Amino acid sequence: MARIAVIGANGTIGSAIVAEAAARGHVVTAVVRDPDRYRGEAAFVERADVLDPAEVARIAAGQDVLVSAVGGGNGPGHLALIEPAARSLVEGLRSLGERAPRLVAVGGAGSLETAPGVRAWDAPGLPEPVLQTMHAHGAALDYYRTVSDVRWTVLSPAAEIGPGERTGRYRTGLEQLLTDAAGHSRISVPDYAVALVDEVDQPEHIGERYTCCSL
Ligand SMILES: NC(=O)c1ccc[n+]([C@@H]2O[C@H](COP(=O)([O-])OP(=O)(O)OC[C@H]3O[C@@H](n4cnc5c(N)ncnc54)[C@H](OP(=O)(O)O)[C@@H]3O)[C@@H](O)[C@H]2O)c1
Repeated sequence: MARIAVIGANGTIGSAIVAEAAARGHVVTAVVRDPDRYRGEAAFVERADVLDPAEVARIAAGQDVLVSAVGGGNGPGHLALIEPAARSLVEGLRSLGERAPRLVAVGGAGSLETAPGVRAWDAPGLPEPVLQTMHAHGAALDYYRTVSDVRWTVLSPAAEIGPGERTGRYRTGLEQLLTDAAGHSRISVPDYAVALVDEVDQPEHIGERYTCCSL
């Protein structure tokens, strides 16, 4: 049993991570901006803004793992949030020194390779807000890769992540965009949550980004 705080616990992916972790018996704290709106399975609810390192430190203290599943809505929203959040998360955790929990952050698929030297965000015709979202996650990942004094992990979803069943089965990889047996790069939200909580339970990707896809 681990103590896990999930920032973005009201979101599509964050709420599934909370549900998966709670179902496994972990003690989950939902970290949201409006606790009155929280209706999920977490045992505890805290209010915090991910962009405030002092608030990150406050909610991370005493946890085993801090999960960030924050999202900024549209493309400009992601530009304003994702890399600054990465810096705030690291600064907040760094301030806790050896007491800092691990960080597992939800990432993006845009920086994954679709061919040698070609990334998903190089595909022609991607709308500008999508590109902004992809590059916001790319910038956050570039930043995490400069960090060696905080234990971080980034889990990039497949290209498509959406509603679907919890099969509990998925494949993982590191830098390549993965596809399923039908050639689609996709994973259901519940299976993504399974993959992320598996990493919480059994750390295999500290200090790196990895990705998951349905079979
Ligand atoms: N294929 C892909 O690469 C892919 C696909 C989908 C999603 N994603 C990524 O996955 C992440 C989560 O996506 P989602 O669909 O679950 O997003 P979502 O439903 O929009 O949820 C995002 C959550 O972030 C929280 N948040 C935003 N700003 C915050 C702040 N300053 N402090 C604290 N919390 C804040 C929001 O809290 P409030 O409830 O308070 O507003 C919200 O609950 C995003 O970063 C998204 O880019 C990647």
